Amino acid sequence: MAFSDLNDSVIAQVRQAADIVDFIGQVTPLKLAGKSYKGLCPFHREKTPSFTVDRGKGLFYCFGCGTGGDVFKFLTLTERFTFPEAVEHVASRVGIELPKKKRTARDSDKDDLLEVMDEASEAFHQALGWGDNPAKRYLTERAVPQEIVDKYGFGYAPDSWDYILTRLARKHGEKKLETAGLAMPRKTGNGYYDRFRNRLMIPIHNESGTVVGFGGRSLDGSDPKYLNSPESEIFNKSRLLYNLHRSKDAMRRIDRAILVEGYFDAISIDHAGVPGVVASMGTSLTTGQASLMRRFTTRVVIAYDGDNAGRMATLRAAPVLLAAGLSVSALDLQGEKDPDSVVQKHGVDRFLEILGSATDIFEFALGEWGTDVAKLTGREKSERVEQFVPLLSAVSDPVVRNDAAQRIADAFRLEFQTIWSRVRGKASTAPERERQPSGRTASAEKTILTAAIQGKLVASDLARLREEYFEEPACKTIFSIMKADLLSGAPIDFQQVATHLKGEAELNLLSEISLTEDIDDQILQRIDENLRPMERAFLERRNLEIQQAISEAQRQGDGEQAAQLGMEKVRILRMLNEAK
Ligand code: UTP
Ligand code: MN
Repeated sequence: MAFSDLNDSVIAQVRQAADIVDFIGQVTPLKLAGKSYKGLCPFHREKTPSFTVDRGKGLFYCFGCGTGGDVFKFLTLTERFTFPEAVEHVASRVGIELPKKKRTARDSDKDDLLEVMDEASEAFHQALGWGDNPAKRYLTERAVPQEIVDKYGFGYAPDSWDYILTRLARKHGEKKLETAGLAMPRKTGNGYYDRFRNRLMIPIHNESGTVVGFGGRSLDGSDPKYLNSPESEIFNKSRLLYNLHRSKDAMRRIDRAILVEGYFDAISIDHAGVPGVVASMGTSLTTGQASLMRRFTTRVVIAYDGDNAGRMATLRAAPVLLAAGLSVSALDLQGEKDPDSVVQKHGVDRFLEILGSATDIFEFALGEWGTDVAKLTGREKSERVEQFVPLLSAVSDPVVRNDAAQRIADAFRLEFQTIWSRVRGKASTAPERERQPSGRTASAEKTILTAAIQGKLVASDLARLREEYFEEPACKTIFSIMKADLLSGAPIDFQQVATHLKGEAELNLLSEISLTEDIDDQILQRIDENLRPMERAFLERRNLEIQQAISEAQRQGDGEQAAQLGMEKVRILRMLNEAK
């Protein structure tokens, strides 16, 4: 999406116009309780409401699970919209017209290409209908009904050097057809010839349903089996999933995708009415494809081919999906070649049965690598265990990861630590995240910021507060944005502040501290207890910096600079003494 040009002021305008209570109230019932609304949190299971929504501030926060943000954040979490999609959705609900994106020369080049693709698709489709031809015979042989041919837009590239050229070159020019990947320049002499000849043409659409390329299946056994459109401005295979435009709504609704390898796998299942199927189109799954899926769903079932290559591909795709934050399971096709042949031979109900018994990816991997454990030598065991490492280290949820590591340890009759020690060295982001202070750890900085925002700091305390005292990045950012208003005593425009916050952690923190019920007097009496350590920590940091600067100045023989820094150091030390 994102047809509109979103800037901060438009975003702020949309946020201001939206009633967050209205949007959230459609997902979880809210009751007015004091100044804010309360309800059961839609993001974790709870019996007593700790989910708070503040209409005036335009923010929500759950004191149970720590999820918070504004109306856009809420929609990205519940509807799985991207941020621009959420803004567009809210804008249309509140009747704000968003400024259209300015069109560039590049945009119109792209539009031309899309038009070429659309017309080529139509031309191939027509050719399939003409008389008796190899593609028609092939489809009959494969028992593909006319319904599928029409619904999925199949076509035929005739066995000719210039079918598409003849149809489209006059209008679009040969060069454009080359850019679109439909024609190629002759090796000798000038002129062009058709790329796709004597192939069954399967159009590939982007997410919004526009044809961006083709997969051309060989009809006479010639290689490659599928000739695909070359990479271009509009056809980027690593960011495309076949059938996504038909499946995305269902993926969102039922929160599940079925990932297959082949065009025909996707078509068979989709046509049989099983929702949410997309194809990775054979090549190894990319992070781009995984995050594309994650926009619509949190769960993926891999239904790759049943042979050894398919199972290996499953285990290679899984870490990519896990790393995108998806939960992953996989199918055992029980000897069948691929999902298409299951549906063809046994009907869709058989496929649904198999789908129903999908196993968690770690079970699946244990079925592959965790067999005959008793017979293995130590070395073999070690090699087998090593194969699980990419899977384990791709999981960011520590509970899920630990559980899987435990299951693997059990299967190999090893200690949990033995498995875990291999993962630890490799897990990229996950343990890092655990070490960082969680959004909920009450810290001195948070207390002070909360008191400041809620107007609970006396002027003398407020005047002591400096941006440099804040060490936690989110606290620092929020304070720096609000500083002027806080010091002048002006009311804080939370909608405006939210607009300036770019990071997720910052918006979350803003929701938390601004929706925290008025902090009690006891804490207020301890303001000094919180402020002093912050002051002291800052002075100590500063002292260290100065000491380093002094050493540097001395090394460079800059006596004057060193002396000046020395004076500042004395001043800092005196302040440190006073702050004790
Ligand atoms: P398969 O070889 O499993 O094809 O490749 P398939 O889908 O079962 O094909 P049919 O049923 O025999 O017609 C899986 C997918 O890998 C891609 C295609 O997207 C194919 O659907 N592929 C395969 C290519 O892009 N090029 C090839 O040469 C082969
Ligand atoms: Mn296949």
